Amino acid sequence: MGGPGVAGVVVLAAGEGKRMKSRTSKVLHQIAGRSMISHAVGAADALMPERLVVVVGHEREQVEAHLAEVAPHAVTAVQEHQNGTGDAVRCGLAPLRDAVGEIVVTMGDVPLLTGDTLVRLLDAHRANADAVTILTSVLDDPAGYGRIVRDADGNQVAAVVEQRDCTPEQAAITEINAGIYVFEADVLRRGLESLTSNNDQGELYLPDVIAFARAEGKRVHSCLLDDRWQSEGVNDRVQLARLNKEYNRRLIERWQREGVTVLDPDTTWLHASVDLASDVTILPGTSLEGATSVSSGAVIGPDTTLIDVEVGENAHVVRTHGSLAVIGTGASVGPFAYLRPGTVLGAGGKIGTFVETKNAQIGPGAKVPHLTYCGDAVIGEGANIGAGTIFANYDGVLKSKTIIGRHSFVGSNTVLIAPVAVADGAYVAAGSALGENVGPGELAIARGRQRNIPGWVESRRAGTKTHRAAIEATDNEGTSEP
Ligand code: UD1
Ligand code: MG
Repeated sequence: MGGPGVAGVVVLAAGEGKRMKSRTSKVLHQIAGRSMISHAVGAADALMPERLVVVVGHEREQVEAHLAEVAPHAVTAVQEHQNGTGDAVRCGLAPLRDAVGEIVVTMGDVPLLTGDTLVRLLDAHRANADAVTILTSVLDDPAGYGRIVRDADGNQVAAVVEQRDCTPEQAAITEINAGIYVFEADVLRRGLESLTSNNDQGELYLPDVIAFARAEGKRVHSCLLDDRWQSEGVNDRVQLARLNKEYNRRLIERWQREGVTVLDPDTTWLHASVDLASDVTILPGTSLEGATSVSSGAVIGPDTTLIDVEVGENAHVVRTHGSLAVIGTGASVGPFAYLRPGTVLGAGGKIGTFVETKNAQIGPGAKVPHLTYCGDAVIGEGANIGAGTIFANYDGVLKSKTIIGRHSFVGSNTVLIAPVAVADGAYVAAGSALGENVGPGELAIARGRQRNIPGWVESRRAGTKTHRAAIEATDNEGTSEP
């Protein structure tokens, strides 16, 4: 069919989206971590348009700022007053004044529509030598959609009639207008000029261009979608959730076919931007978001959320919340770990149970296994951080750094008062409050020395059960032990 390449695409996104009841523009709400408008532009890109125009209106500053970020190649056209889809396309044609050939019109709130479907629509348009080709769908319940009214012979489309303008016979038609079309530019321009607001809503209706084209003797055919989800729009949060769930199901299925094991697709949530290798295993209750990538052999979950996290080969991440972190090859994280931005765990390293890390480089094979806050730290290869160690990195004003050397050992329940450094091959005694640096091969003991006061229980707690137990223990001394 000569392949894609059209003069222009117009994406309609000026509508108010009242039923979302949101301060955020409807088309900025997300499906699989990506805005609906970004999905729409992504699909339109498959047509390789010379120009891609997004018609904005409501909350246009938000939408324009977002497009500048995610689709800098898109130009915007402003529709000041939402006077119908025909008026919106009139506005959208301003940057396409000189366009000759095919112009595709699509919508910003139909997130499951794929680029492949748009290309199929374009192919049909060319094969039929149409002036207009319209994407349609057959629905059990066509309520709310424009109905496809055909010629007597049923071959071409005669008109689209909106639900509210339908006769009872027309209302019974189950083939609907998906709101996505290919137009020949000259027919579209003249058709739009001919529009009147002579309808129930008093708006300019884009689909009326079809009746105009037919009156000129031009060809108009439909292209039927067999996948109804692709024509479904989002008008409220119920539909947003429904379409998000279906998108997620499809995404997971795609990854499963690429060799990813997903134990429970119903409780696994993926962003479209996530990258997974074959032989990754995802356990129930897992959400992988943003630029997260997972290498082969890694096992993630259950009950884990990773946002912008890089997971190395064969790593295990169990019941963890992480963001902007790197987990090395064969490393192990969790259960119940909290990885905050700047966490880098080396190959074979461990971040264990009830451990929070932030801006922490933990070397290969180093272990932070239990009950630790580890912030602003550099931990050398093979070091071991005892249970309950706290990296006291904040004095109320400044954040400071703690350095632990290679193969060093920090005893349990130590407070490392930053800035402080423990050299390679050193020990810190359990229960220390460490405020001074430790040299290689040294043992640092930074705690009160133990003192035992004989007879204290007898003099201060006489007559208590504790006292009796002490007397019994003293009496038994030398008799109970061999
Ligand atoms: C439209 C079609 C209907 C079709 C349905 C498919 C018309 C008159 N009707 O109806 O045949 O079955 O889509 O979903 O076209 N928009 C603007 N500016 C406006 C009005 C709308 O940008 O002035 C945008 C909206 O943001 C939305 C799209 O155009 O993305 C469709 O508008 P909407 O009001 O939802 O049209 P429907 O009544 O659903
Ligand atoms: Mg609609």
